[in-house]
Amino acid sequence: MTESERWEQTRLRITGLLDGETDIIAMMATVACELHHAFDHFHWTGFYRVTAPNLLVIGPYQGGHGCLRIPFDKGVCGAAARTRTTQRVADVNAFPGHIACSSSTQSELVVPICGPSGTVLAVLDLDSDTLNAFTEADQLNVEAVCSDLGARWGTE
Ligand code: SME
Repeated sequence: MTESERWEQTRLRITGLLDGETDIIAMMATVACELHHAFDHFHWTGFYRVTAPNLLVIGPYQGGHGCLRIPFDKGVCGAAARTRTTQRVADVNAFPGHIACSSSTQSELVVPICGPSGTVLAVLDLDSDTLNAFTEADQLNVEAVCSDLGARWGTE
């Protein structure tokens, strides 16, 4: 199966599973599970939620344990939340302020999830033990999943 076929299949499965669901935790847990098992280079897949100004707290995830709290001024996740832009980092060791929750992480893709008015609600963090693991297709597809989740989030 090609990368593009695998993404198509994964996106269809997620859309089907979320159909009719309104509980955001159920949706985050399902997305984390489906993405994590879709590609071999996804070694940690999960959400950090904005629970207070400038603070991310861990949400549903798959993989080894992650840091519980990340301020906006720390790490790749903090940068994604602060700037509300996707961070695709080929080598985390070259990223100033990277948080090493797991010493095996080499590259990351972190996508912000924003509500209809642009407020950042959460980030979706994918970590890989391989350098430069995340492709442009990974970024575009994860961004589409996050855009859909932002629209479904409900009240902000
Ligand atoms: N490495 C991330 C922190 C989250 S965990 O690794 C699960 C970062 O620098 O934002």
